[in-house]
Order: sequence, then structure tokens, then C-alpha cells
Amino acid sequence: MGAGKSTLGEEIARRLRRRFVDLDYEIERQTGATIEELFARDGEPKFRAIEENIAASVLDAAEPAVIALGGGTVLSSVTRETLRRRAFTVLLEVDPGAAWKRASEGGRPLAIDEQAFQELYRARLPIYEEAAEAHARDADGIVLAAAGIDVRIGALDLLDELVPGTGPIEIVADGNVAGIHGVSAQLAFGDRDIASHDVPPGEAAKTIAVLERLWRALRIGRDGTIVGLGGGCTTDLAGFAAATYMRGVPWVAVPTTLVGQVDAAIGGKTAIDLPGGKNLVGAFHWPARVVIDPGTLETLPDAESRNGMAEVVKTGLLMDHPVWELPLVELVRRCASFKAAVCLADPHDLGPRNMLNLGHTFGHALESAAGYDLPHGQVVALGMIAALQLSGNDAALAVVRRELDPQPVRVDREAAWAALARDKKTVGGAPRLVLLERTGEPTWGNEVPVADIRAALDSLIAD
Ligand SMILES: NC(=O)c1ccc[n+]([C@@H]2O[C@H](COP(=O)([O-])OP(=O)(O)OC[C@H]3O[C@@H](n4cnc5c(N)ncnc54)[C@H](O)[C@@H]3O)[C@@H](O)[C@H]2O)c1
Ligand SMILES: [Zn+2]
Repeated sequence: MGAGKSTLGEEIARRLRRRFVDLDYEIERQTGATIEELFARDGEPKFRAIEENIAASVLDAAEPAVIALGGGTVLSSVTRETLRRRAFTVLLEVDPGAAWKRASEGGRPLAIDEQAFQELYRARLPIYEEAAEAHARDADGIVLAAAGIDVRIGALDLLDELVPGTGPIEIVADGNVAGIHGVSAQLAFGDRDIASHDVPPGEAAKTIAVLERLWRALRIGRDGTIVGLGGGCTTDLAGFAAATYMRGVPWVAVPTTLVGQVDAAIGGKTAIDLPGGKNLVGAFHWPARVVIDPGTLETLPDAESRNGMAEVVKTGLLMDHPVWELPLVELVRRCASFKAAVCLADPHDLGPRNMLNLGHTFGHALESAAGYDLPHGQVVALGMIAALQLSGNDAALAVVRRELDPQPVRVDREAAWAALARDKKTVGGAPRLVLLERTGEPTWGNEVPVADIRAALDSLIAD
């Protein structure tokens, strides 16, 4: 009571593009009486019976929703059972003083006397704990919990606790990362049954040959878990191995690059490359957990951090918040929860998830024309310049120039243009673009005159 469930619930529903149901409000709507009136007229037991019925119908609705429960809803064991079956339940942690202030101002029947209110909270806490699958303190925390993502310094040392299940573990790491963080990861699993597999660093891991070697080396059954430890290349490979091995085993992503922590390890896309193009064979396979330890970024080379910053700036422009100015842990947390919310809203990439491609249509074209020999961050930054120019968003353009300062690249113009036309987002030969006319309000599927697209692409290329 008074934890701020309604306000946060509404925000989460907006971010996940789901319906929002405030149970108290729903009860008032269906009964035509206020909660206070129901308490006064019928007494608490009768009210709880009504609440249990309405909670059941709300929880059984086919269309997914974000639901703010009442402070006493979970006292019902029937409702707790329905929650276990039908919902992911998050306990919103709250400072008791702040909760009292909010609840008492709201004139709720059980918030008349502060001492009684605090005692009620303490008495209910064990039941809240029993009902909750996760705890959170804010909107980002709720989204991260729903997506199965943990962000904290030292998370690498807590792998045994954070990786679900008790079965055997197969760690997949690239040679570099295995040398730097592999031992910590192995130690973290204590006496669990673990095996480790080294794969080549970088894009070289995402090949059918490396995948086949990995498939053959795996010895877990369905009770085991694959753990991808490394950058986006390693987690893409490990995730795809998990998606396909024995028709799918659980996997956990432990991203160790900034790109991985704010982007690649989140959202369940896994893939390998073909000679004809990147990420051409893959699967959607949501990781059982994403364990993000920003402390692992201390050893990351500067060039890799710059790649990550391009995605960070992209995220900040999409959400209209200067995340790039935040301290590292908070920066990672905000970016990870932003991407997680977009992916939870559109897990199979049929709509809103397109927004994450801001700058990428142009970026991929430059990358392809350069034979993938340019840093991803640089081409994405350039691609954002083109997309923001076409959007007429000077303020966002200034941010990209100031934070990323990308310089035009020397690639074959015709090759870049041909690659752009082959882009996956192309419809009938004309590329569809993500635009950002107003910062924080991306639009996708935009048709833009071909001549303007060509001019924007050309402006990114040095002679
Ligand atoms: N699945 C998705 O949704 C998604 C999204 C974005 C990108 N990706 C993919 O991610 C890949 C790029 O990922 P990346 O940029 O993380 O590159 P990466 O995995 O190649 O890692 C970059 C380099 O950093 C090294 N490294 C990693 N962690 C380190 C650490 N903590 N300390 C020192 N060195 C470390 C690696 O060994 C490697 O040499 C691409 O293949 C891209 O397609 C996937
Ligand atoms: Zn990218």
C-alpha cells in the first residue's frame, strides 16, 4: 500500500506496450463503489472475496497486461496460486515512511494510523516475499526483472546463484575473455559440474565450422545450461548453439563488452554468419538469465568501448535521456532496461523493435562495402548522422557529433549503395528507414525519396 504501484504500473505498461489494470480501480469500476465504501458497507472479509474474484478474472484474461495489485490482494492463497500460474510477480520495495505518506494522503481504509500501518506492512511482508518472483525499486528494475536481467558490479562472482537450475554448465568463451574472466566464472560455479569451450575472438566465432565443433563438444542434456561469456559474438554463437542443440536447451548470457551489456545479450536474438552476410542464420531464443557485471568492462580495450558508446548514444536519443552522461553502472542499467522493454513488447521483431535499427541501415551498408573491416561503432555513428539529417533533427545531430565525432569513411560508393538496397528492412527495393524527427519519438518503416537516401549515404563517404 502506497508503494507507488499505480504510477509505476502505468509507466511499465507504456514501455511494454501492454494494457494497464489497476486492480483497486477495476474493483471500483465493477462494483460502482469506492474501496472505502466497500470496506465500510460490507467489511474487510466481504471486500477480500470481491477482490479475489475480480483478480481472478483480470489474471485469466487472454491479452497480456501489466497489473497493479492492491496491498492486500496476495493475502488470498487462491490469488497467489493464480499469480504463480499466470503472472510474473514483482515485489516493489519501498521505504515504509514514504509509503505511509502516500497511502495516508490517499485516504485508504487501512492507512488511518501510522503505527498500525507499519505493523500491517511488517505482518504482510512474508506473504509478499512468498508471492514475489523478483524484487525491484523502480521502473527499470521491474523491466529488468521481467526480462531476467541482473545488472550489478560483482555479478560474475554470483553466477552459481544467478544461473537457474542445478544441472551441468557448459561455459562458452572466446580465447581473450576466457583468459581474463574465465577463471572467475569457473570459480563462481563452485562445485557445480562445469565444462569450458574456447571459441575464436570476434566475428570468427560466428561460423558454421565453430558452431559444429561446439555442438559436438557439448555433453549436457536438457537439464544443463549453456553460458555464453564474452562479447556479442560469443553470446550470439552460444545462444544459437543453445537454440539448436537438442532442439533447444536453456542458456545464460554473461556479456563482457559494452556492446554486449547494452545491446547484443538482450532480447533473445541469436545468430551466426554466412559468407553472403552477417546474422543470416539464427533463432529467437530468450536467455534464461542475462548476468551483467559492469566491472568486467575495466579490461575492455578503448576501441571496444567506443563501439558500445555508439549504441549508448543511440539508446539515449531513442529514450530522450542523456544516458551517456551517467556513471557506468547506471548507464548500463538504463540502456539494458530500455532495450529489454522494447524487446519484451515486440519479441519477434514485427514492429517497435525496428526502432533499435536507428542509423543501422546506413551503417550496415558502409560495413558491407568495407568488407566488415570498419568498427561497428563508427559506422553506426555515421549512419545516425544520415538518419538524423533525413529526420531534420539538429539537436540529436549535435549530440552524435559531440559524443561520437564520426569521420567519413573511404569505401566504394556503388558497393555501399548496392548493400543498402539489399538491407533486410527493404520493401520492394526501397529501403524503409527509422527516423527520429523528435528525440524520444522514433518512427519506423518510413519511405524516404531514394535520391535523398543516396545523398545522405554519399555524405558519409570520403573521397
Ligand atoms: N543478438 C543481438 O541482438 C545483437 C545486437 C548487437 C550486436 N550483435 C552482434 O554482436 C557482435 C559484436 O559484439 P561485440 O562488439 O561485443 O564484439 P566481440 O564479441 O567481438 O568482442 C570484441 C572484442 O573484445 C574482447 N573482449 C570482450 N570482453 C572483453 C573484456 N571484458 N576485456 C577485454 N577484452 C574483451 C573480445 O575478445 C573481442 O576481441 C556482432 O557479431 C553483432 O552482430 C548482436
Ligand atoms: Zn549496432
